[in-house]
Amino acid sequence: MLVSGKGGVGKTTLSAALAVAAARAGRPVLLAELSPDEGGPSTLSGLVGVKEAGPRVVPAGPNLSFVRLSAQEGHRLFLEETLPVKWLAEAALRSRALRRFLEAGPALKEMGLMFQLLALLRLTHPDGRRVHPLTVVDLPATGHALALATLPRSILSLMPGGPVGRAVREGLDLLQDPARTGVVVTTLPEPLPVSETLALVGELKDVGLPLSAAVLNRMPEDPFTPESRAALERLLETHGPHRGQRALERLERARLARERLAAGVGVPHWGLPELALTGMALVERLAELLESKLEGAASRGGREATP
Ligand SMILES: Nc1ncnc2c1ncn2[C@@H]1O[C@H](COP(=O)(O)OP(=O)(O)OP(=O)(O)O)[C@@H](O)[C@H]1O
Ligand SMILES: [Mg+2]
Repeated sequence: MLVSGKGGVGKTTLSAALAVAAARAGRPVLLAELSPDEGGPSTLSGLVGVKEAGPRVVPAGPNLSFVRLSAQEGHRLFLEETLPVKWLAEAALRSRALRRFLEAGPALKEMGLMFQLLALLRLTHPDGRRVHPLTVVDLPATGHALALATLPRSILSLMPGGPVGRAVREGLDLLQDPARTGVVVTTLPEPLPVSETLALVGELKDVGLPLSAAVLNRMPEDPFTPESRAALERLLETHGPHRGQRALERLERARLARERLAAGVGVPHWGLPELALTGMALVERLAELLESKLEGAASRGGREATP
């Protein structure tokens, strides 16, 4: 499950909440942070109470584990897999020239992150069950979801064969398989963010990334019954502009945003309310709300239950 969307719309909060909701429902979940700035502070780990965010998978509660994907770890795993012996990989990574090469291009960094993700997804128990049957990935910005799909293609055109080509093709197959991957796009219930989200949905389709759900985060609460709303509107008509008008307009924009999104995405859309909470308390409450949606989706046999 890849969580994408514009900056600041709530991707990190939603990723944590989705993972907590699934874990509570009894599914083992790996919550993964994919950040271009691996050394910077990790918001996501804090939201699930993890103190040491690093490239090793750590427990974060019942059924929940956490990892901060690392390009360097991915490069190491890649070399380990492609070079005949492990010590050669270690030695190769100690070579400064190689390190500089691997860290130079953003593409290679992305590939490293992706390779570590793939390696984690491939892990199996001795009885063949997957160690991480469900992984929620918090993506840093809109462009990243697209880069995940376009980058492997450009690499394949340069290196179609060999271990690189094989690894990249495996990643691309996984990303484009709707039974195994689903993007959850997140947006705010306002006209411009929804337009941008609809554009993103189109681009995801173009690169072959399956969409599984759209989330309208921070929906304003509607305190009105139809009657009280009609009464308020009559009042506003007679008495002219009023402070309440802005709240009403925001509600109307949110309603329209929801309608446009519903019409444009072709997958389930979920509204999450604006809450007067922050941090872990916010995540816990959103997880409760998501749990019922995930259950509903699962009982309807919806694909969004297992992205
Ligand atoms: N439903 C909500 N109600 C109230 N506040 C929210 C809600 N969802 C998110 N927030 C707040 O919005 C802010 C941004 O959220 P978050 O960091 O999850 O966004 P993001 O999309 O990951 O941002 P970035 O693009 O910077 O990574 C945070 O302060 C978070 O607490
Ligand atoms: Mg974030």
